[in-house]
Amino acid sequence: LDNGVARTPPMGWNSWNTFGCNINETLIRQTADALVSSGMRDLGYQYVVVDDCWFNPNRDSAGNLQGDPTRFPSGMKALGDYIHARGLKFGIYQVPVDKTCAQYFNSYPGATGSQGHEAQDARQFAAWGVDYLKYDWCSPNGTIDDQVRTFAKMRDALAATGRPIVYSINPNSIHAKTGPQRNWGDVANMWRTTEDITNTWNSGQTNGYPMGIQNIIDVNVPLAPYAKPGAFTDPDMMEVGRGGMTDTEMRSHFAMWAVMASPLIAGNDVRSMNSATQTILKNANLIAINQDPLALQGGQVSFDGTRRVLAKRLANGDVAVALFNQGGSTTTISTTAAAIGKSGSSFTLVDAWTNASTTSTGTISASVPSHGTVVYRVSGGGTAPPTTPPPSTASALSSV
Ligand code: GLA
Repeated sequence: LDNGVARTPPMGWNSWNTFGCNINETLIRQTADALVSSGMRDLGYQYVVVDDCWFNPNRDSAGNLQGDPTRFPSGMKALGDYIHARGLKFGIYQVPVDKTCAQYFNSYPGATGSQGHEAQDARQFAAWGVDYLKYDWCSPNGTIDDQVRTFAKMRDALAATGRPIVYSINPNSIHAKTGPQRNWGDVANMWRTTEDITNTWNSGQTNGYPMGIQNIIDVNVPLAPYAKPGAFTDPDMMEVGRGGMTDTEMRSHFAMWAVMASPLIAGNDVRSMNSATQTILKNANLIAINQDPLALQGGQVSFDGTRRVLAKRLANGDVAVALFNQGGSTTTISTTAAAIGKSGSSFTLVDAWTNASTTSTGTISASVPSHGTVVYRVSGGGTAPPTTPPPSTASALSSV
């Protein structure tokens, strides 16, 4: 979506994965402070996104949304001010249907969705200083065309406010799994491609609840041609630092999100991170690959059911290569400079985790542990130009 924001994948934090409905203004303020003191803000994590359950179940007499008066007693404008004063940006959750997911599933009271209030709610968000809207189709009803029309309504309402607001949509939850079916880049800055993530490596789901890291990668990798500045596939908020996985698996999770040009939205409690978690989330090499201005999603070079190779062309002609081992034992994964679009006979490979630098005449190879990922930044030689992303396929906006 060409609305001036999200020219590279948005980075930040979201309350849902760790806290669910158990949120309040103290938690959000402490999180904003921790993003600053941990150094994460200065590495690019700027959006502080308050997910479901922030609102009063009743709109006011004029039909305006209000923050929950008990858990957000200072109000949402004051919360936005606090976040902005720390050099961060303010994100909030809402739905295009009648009930939020917590109202639908978790018996949170009320039915405060934006359905019928789109323009009013967009103005309210802009007045509170909202910089990022997560808009979640939490309903089993509606066709993909209904979704396109309804998501476009809020896109236009946000544009009419004049405030630059990242538009993050979820066409996928409890719906007909429409996330991966369409190139949503004409509607939103980022769109969820799978059901909800959980802190497990493999849940056995293909696009059902809940998704493990491996299952999400399987769905999201083929969508690589859709990513471009302003439009990113969203394989969901990260589970790094939430337990449930080995450090090797958490490193793979982060490395693959980085190379897939995925939004890097931390989902852990950033007020209390161990050093392994910090080392992963603050890997500057991987963040630079993720935030590269060409904004291309790493495409698949090869996959034999166990060994998956992705390549992401970067603005300075370097290519990032991910060697990902989906199998149960250590294996050697190899590709070549020619296969990743490089010409020439002399290359430098920098390992994104260790910073070790090696030279190569064309072979790119590593021994990779089970569920591990080695990422090299490959420089030297020439680079084939990137291919142009294809236009939207299913349900073009003009036809609904
Ligand atoms: C859906 C979304 C989640 C989260 C919850 C909140 O399940 O996919 O990311 O926002 O709703 O209820």
